[in-house]
Amino acid sequence: MPATARSAHYTRPWLAPYQLSAIFCSERYAVVEATTKAGKTAACLVWIFEQAAESSAGRNHWWVAPVYAQAEIAYKRMKRAIPRALFKSNDTERFIELANGAIVSFKSGEKPDNLFGEDVYSAVIDEASRLRADSWHAVRSTLSATRGPARIIGNVRGRLNWAYDMARRAERGAIGMHYAKITWHDAVAAGILDAAEIEDARTHLPPSVFRELYEAEPADIEGRVYRDFKPENVDSDVCDLGGTILVGMDFNVNPMSAVVACRAADQLHVFDEVVIANSNTQEMAEELRRRYPEPRDVAVYPDPSGSARKTSAPVGQTDFAILRQFGFRLITPRAAIPVVDRINEVNGLFCNAKGERRLFVHSRCTHLLDGLEGLTYKDGTNQPEKDRGLDHICFGEDTRIETDRGRRRGSRRPSVTTTGSRWRTCAPHRWCRGGRSSPPTAPRPRWPPQGAQRTTPRRRRGRSVRPSPRARSPARYSPRRSAR
Ligand SMILES: Nc1ncnc2c1ncn2[C@@H]1O[C@H](COP(=O)(O)OP(=O)(O)OP(=O)(O)O)[C@@H](O)[C@H]1O
Ligand SMILES: [Mg+2]
Repeated sequence: MPATARSAHYTRPWLAPYQLSAIFCSERYAVVEATTKAGKTAACLVWIFEQAAESSAGRNHWWVAPVYAQAEIAYKRMKRAIPRALFKSNDTERFIELANGAIVSFKSGEKPDNLFGEDVYSAVIDEASRLRADSWHAVRSTLSATRGPARIIGNVRGRLNWAYDMARRAERGAIGMHYAKITWHDAVAAGILDAAEIEDARTHLPPSVFRELYEAEPADIEGRVYRDFKPENVDSDVCDLGGTILVGMDFNVNPMSAVVACRAADQLHVFDEVVIANSNTQEMAEELRRRYPEPRDVAVYPDPSGSARKTSAPVGQTDFAILRQFGFRLITPRAAIPVVDRINEVNGLFCNAKGERRLFVHSRCTHLLDGLEGLTYKDGTNQPEKDRGLDHICFGEDTRIETDRGRRRGSRRPSVTTTGSRWRTCAPHRWCRGGRSSPPTAPRPRWPPQGAQRTTPRRRRGRSVRPSPRARSPARYSPRRSAR
């Protein structure tokens, strides 16, 4: 093995400004979605070398790629880049030990179980969109004790992968996360990619592949449910405006979820969400009341299935009864709303045919945003895919919106029960609160009072009780008779 130097002078190699800002940021996590050959790997090799050079003997730094062959490419590049006197290496286990004793290991994510157990002081996840989610989870666990930083880099590869979800969170400005998108324009401007090469790629690749590989844009996946939801619908300024709180709720047990919104003129602002794993309606109601204590008016638009006893409600109680006990107003459709109607309505609010956006979601509602981004239809059906667990919170949201639309159609006054439409508004059952277990004994007065004479003829089935226009104003309809 070559000798190792005691000290060396280091000058960082030249990197393009976009490489510096994307990788050498101060946030703990940097997520980079970039054109191919932008220099992601090159910049991260420099970054992890500096991390290791600044740490101390025995500290681990990991480079993790989806497969061994990719990890080996990075390992060989790093070995070529560092002067021989500054490191020892092990080609079998693919690690480099710097003169200060810090170790940079190049690992594959093919077997996530092999990645658990170590304390890691910094990590690069290369080709993240191609790496198994389990492997990222394992790497993340190794950073916990050290609170080490991570750089997550790769091309865009569809929307259905953990790296895409993570990039969206970073893009929305999640705390401790930095996001960078690097396209071929940036790489050409920096002199790292050649414009003629880009034109050649454009000629030979299908448009969707070119968009992903060179423009870092996901090819629009077939069958995205909320296709009109765009980053323009995410607004960190939306907040609780103080009026009635509107809650869309799904009674799934795991997770039990609710979205919290308010009206702002003709817009709807979703400013909060509640997602509780392995929970029940009682806990959800408690959490909502903790955040929005009485006497705040809270209108809950529940999943219609809640009127039947569900696993999320204790034996003998319906989800609806539990919500009423907490003083929530329940607004429910008389019949289940077709899924397609709910989705169309939500899409129309995200963006209508005039290009107007009227539904905005706060960036803190990460579960809802993940669902809106990633929920797709099952192949060949118009039923949303349920396997990824993204549907529950979205269903909470579209139940709330669609119910509200129907209620507006059915009645101008929200608190009045409407009949004759498919919508019903339930007032809170006050006797459910404060220890009274049964409804007030005095029945509501009936009309007309008993014994009173009816002043209008009893309505016959199939016939209008309104007098016909002719009967109301005979002269108007008999000009010849009135002329006489
Ligand atoms: N700062 C730089 N100065 C000069 N050349 C660079 C620089 N950064 C990267 N390159 C060169 O650009 C090419 C692509 O770099 P690299 O492999 O790091 O890109 P990448 O984004 O990781 O590509 P891929 O999408 O294939 O993973 C390499 O030949 C590399 O040497
Ligand atoms: Mg690379």
